[in-house]
Amino acid sequence: MDEGILRIFNSKNFDSLHTQIIGRKIYKYDTVTSTNDVAFRHALEGEKEGLVFWARSQTKGRGRLGRSWISHKDKGVYFSIILRPQIAVKDAPKFTLMAGVGIAKALGKFTGLESLIKWPNDIFIKDKKIGGILTEIEADINMIRFIVIGIGLNTNLKAGELPVKEATSLKILLGKDTSNESLLGVCLKELDNYYLEFKKYGFRGIIEEARSLSSLWGRQVKIETLPFDKHSKSNPKGTIEGVALDFDEDGALVIRQHNGFRKHIFAGDVRLLR
Ligand code: BTN
Repeated sequence: MDEGILRIFNSKNFDSLHTQIIGRKIYKYDTVTSTNDVAFRHALEGEKEGLVFWARSQTKGRGRLGRSWISHKDKGVYFSIILRPQIAVKDAPKFTLMAGVGIAKALGKFTGLESLIKWPNDIFIKDKKIGGILTEIEADINMIRFIVIGIGLNTNLKAGELPVKEATSLKILLGKDTSNESLLGVCLKELDNYYLEFKKYGFRGIIEEARSLSSLWGRQVKIETLPFDKHSKSNPKGTIEGVALDFDEDGALVIRQHNGFRKHIFAGDVRLLR
């Protein structure tokens, strides 16, 4: 099952990580289909939370809404984490926000550049997408059994190698190659901090941080809304426009529509209009 495995690290022999939960074991692969698939398989077999699955390349890397995630060898950091929080299915989107905060902080520290979250799952630097988060869950009726958080960051892609013109890479921003291992270490540290914070205090402080790291406030947005889960009628599929105002305490995006009404959006795909 674990073909292509290169090495197994623990949090002490990986770049002096010393994290408590996330990164207690890191499986490094050469090539996999998708690190989310590998993490999911391990989680179904009962692996503990905090394990990380990191690959040098992916043949079927995927993003949200069925999009693909281009994953050339060593041109990006591609990894997935298993978490087993005791939470209801409806709270799962908050983990995408938590990962967004951790990754935006990590990239800010690593590059010295302002790194922002474009709700719900994109990470932007200088108004271009540098990374994305794909959260997938396994659940028993209403409670989560486990979550897999997959993260892809563009590191060593040259301008001509970018998948779309709205994307960027650290190579373009910094003018040099990045050590994927060092960046992964910084990301795991931040993610571990925020996961520990969630375990102790819940999401309140994390949502507060997400507010201060959002790229959307005051901007006119068009959102393809998605049913947030199959039991929810509050966010049927459709399109909605307005000015992005805030996150509510559930991590939903609050917008003001043209008619002045406020709407809370739980899941969607955001396009900036201006
Ligand atoms: C998005 O922007 O839509 C999310 C992209 C997530 C990509 C990462 S790369 C590691 C993990 N494995 C995958 O197949 N996808 C995620």
